[in-house]
Amino acid sequence: MIDLSTNYLGLRLKNPIVVSASPLSEKLENFPRMRDAGASAIVMYSLFEEQIEAESENIDSALEYGANSYAESTSYLPDMPKYHIGPDRYLDLLQKAKKSVDIPIIASLNGNSRGGWTQYAQYMEEAGADALELNIFNIPTDPSITGQQLEDSYVELVRSIRKCIKIPISVKIGPYFTSLANFARRLSDAGADGLVIFNRFYQPDFDLEELEVTPNLVLSSPHELRLRLHWAAILYHQVEIYLAITGGVHDATDVLKSMMAGANVAMMTSALLKYGIEHIGVVLSGMEAWMEEHEYTSIKQMRGSMSLVNVEDPTAFLRGNYLKMLGSYSFGETGTALPTY
Ligand SMILES: Cc1cc2nc3c(=O)[nH]c(=O)nc-3n(C[C@H](O)[C@H](O)[C@H](O)COP(=O)(O)O)c2cc1C
Repeated sequence: MIDLSTNYLGLRLKNPIVVSASPLSEKLENFPRMRDAGASAIVMYSLFEEQIEAESENIDSALEYGANSYAESTSYLPDMPKYHIGPDRYLDLLQKAKKSVDIPIIASLNGNSRGGWTQYAQYMEEAGADALELNIFNIPTDPSITGQQLEDSYVELVRSIRKCIKIPISVKIGPYFTSLANFARRLSDAGADGLVIFNRFYQPDFDLEELEVTPNLVLSSPHELRLRLHWAAILYHQVEIYLAITGGVHDATDVLKSMMAGANVAMMTSALLKYGIEHIGVVLSGMEAWMEEHEYTSIKQMRGSMSLVNVEDPTAFLRGNYLKMLGSYSFGETGTALPTY
C-alpha cells in the first residue's frame, strides 16, 4: 500500500496535490469536483488589497455623495470585477466552500502594505479558512527603494498578520530576491509557516500596431518547474518552513520531482485549466504507478532526497553547475546543437 500523505502547514493531507489559487475556486460547485478528483487541499483565488480598499472607499463615498460616485471610484480597477468578486462575497463563498468539502481550504490575500485590509485575514479565519496564503506580488519600480526596505516591509506585513490570526500563514513570493534563502528565513522568523515558490511574473506584451502594452496571460509550461525545484532543493532543511511548489507542475513526474527536491506539496493550476479538474486523478495514478515500479512506499521516504543537503554532488545546485552547463553545449557538423549525454 503506497502512502501518499504529507504534512503542509501542520495540516495532514492525503496526498501532495493542492489546487493553487485560480478561477477554479470562484465557483462553489467546483469544490466537490476538485475534492472528488483527488485534490488534498484547495487554495482560493486571491482577494486583493485594492478590492478591499475600493469597496471601503465606495461605501464611504456612497454615504457622503450618494450612489453616483460609486462607478467613478472603481474605475481604476477596470478588470477586477470580471475575474474576482468583492470581499463580502469572498467570505461568503469561503464559508460555503468549507461546508461543501472535508479537505482544507486555504484563503488567499494579495497585498503589499500594512493597512486596514489586513483585517481581512481575521475575517478569513472567522469564515473558517484552515490557513491563509499571503500572495505578495509587487513590482518595485521606484529606484529610491532598496531591496532591504522592500524585504523589511514584507517581513513586517507577515509579522503584523501573524499577530491577528492563529491559523497557519504561508507566503507566496516571486523568485526575484537577491538573497532568497535569507529572505525565506526572515519570513519564517516573522511567523510564516510556509513558503509558496514561486509567483509567475506575468510580463505584458507590446502591441506594435496599436502601440499599446497589452496584458497577455499565458498558461505555464513544465520547464518552469526547474527554477522551483532548484530553490526548494536549496531551502529544504536550511530554513524551517513548509514548502509548496507552484509553477510548471503538469504531470506525475513533476509532483515526484517536487517531493524529492524537498517540497511538502505541489500545486496545480495551468494543467487543470488545460486538461480539466479530473486531471488530478491521472496525476495521482501516475505517481502511484511510478512509486510502485521504483519500490517507494511513501512520499515521506522520498522527500528531500534530491535536495542540496542530501544530494551526492551539491555543485549541481551551485556555481559549478553553471560552468558545467555552459561547457556541455556542443555543435554538430551543420552548426546545430547536439545533446551531450
Ligand atoms: C487565470 C489564473 C488566475 C490566477 N489567479 C491567482 C490568484 O488569484 N492568486 C494567486 O496567488 N495566484 C493566482 N494564479 C497563479 C496560480 O495560482 C499559480 O501560482 C500559477 O499559475 C503557477 O502554477 P501553474 O504552473 O500550475 O499554473 C492564477 C493563475 C491563473 C492562470
